[in-house]
Amino acid sequence: MSPASLPQTPSKSVPLASSATAYSRLRDLWAFLHTWLRSPARVGAIAPSSAALARLMTSEVCAAPGRVLELGPGTGVFTRALLERGVAEENLILVEAAPEFAALLERRFPAAQVLRADARQLPRRLARVDSGVSAVVSGLPLRNLSRRHRLAVLLGAFGHLSADGAFYQFTYGARFPLPRSWTDRHGFKVQRLGRVYGNLPPATVYRVTRRAASRWIGA
Ligand SMILES: C[S@@+](CC[C@H](N)C(=O)[O-])C[C@H]1O[C@@H](n2cnc3c(N)ncnc32)[C@H](O)[C@@H]1O
Repeated sequence: MSPASLPQTPSKSVPLASSATAYSRLRDLWAFLHTWLRSPARVGAIAPSSAALARLMTSEVCAAPGRVLELGPGTGVFTRALLERGVAEENLILVEAAPEFAALLERRFPAAQVLRADARQLPRRLARVDSGVSAVVSGLPLRNLSRRHRLAVLLGAFGHLSADGAFYQFTYGARFPLPRSWTDRHGFKVQRLGRVYGNLPPATVYRVTRRAASRWIGA
């Protein structure tokens, strides 16, 4: 029997696969730490988010037609989760300010549109992108931005979201990063989706949608 026709036992491939995954996790961790050391406030975390946080952040996003906009994808933990949920890679728009991460995302997700851009300037940067965005998934460290810039991100994102689209944001803080009076004033409804204690540090995920009245007024 030639070596090629010998039955392959799973025990031979499992350690190889898991060591490849462990290696790629280590590489991502290093990329994160390295980028964080250069720009701690912008990166906002010393390690990528956990798979559990990625699952919760993307749990309501489906493969429905329409594009998905991801803000601050970093090494692409949420991007992968979006693909696992059936979103087509070519329907992804990834907005990343750190050049190191943007280059890595371009290599990892060649069919996605990677914008090396500042998410605070979404309206200008996305002017050429069609408006059919069904969901925005944000890993931006909003708490490290001024309140004015946090609002600019939200307003910019909703400028591209379809009427029933939703914006997902996680935070390490105890509350959504904008006060209720601000979100109310702009017609946004903020709901807590859940908390992931297994993330380091634990993180809470919020869903932001347009209030029905503002949807009606905007129509
Ligand atoms: C906390 S990390 C999250 C990365 C990834 N989503 C995750 O959960 O592992 C924040 C990411 O947002 C990016 N970022 C920060 N400010 C940004 C901005 N103004 N515009 C675009 N990306 C930004 C950082 O470079 C980094 O990739």
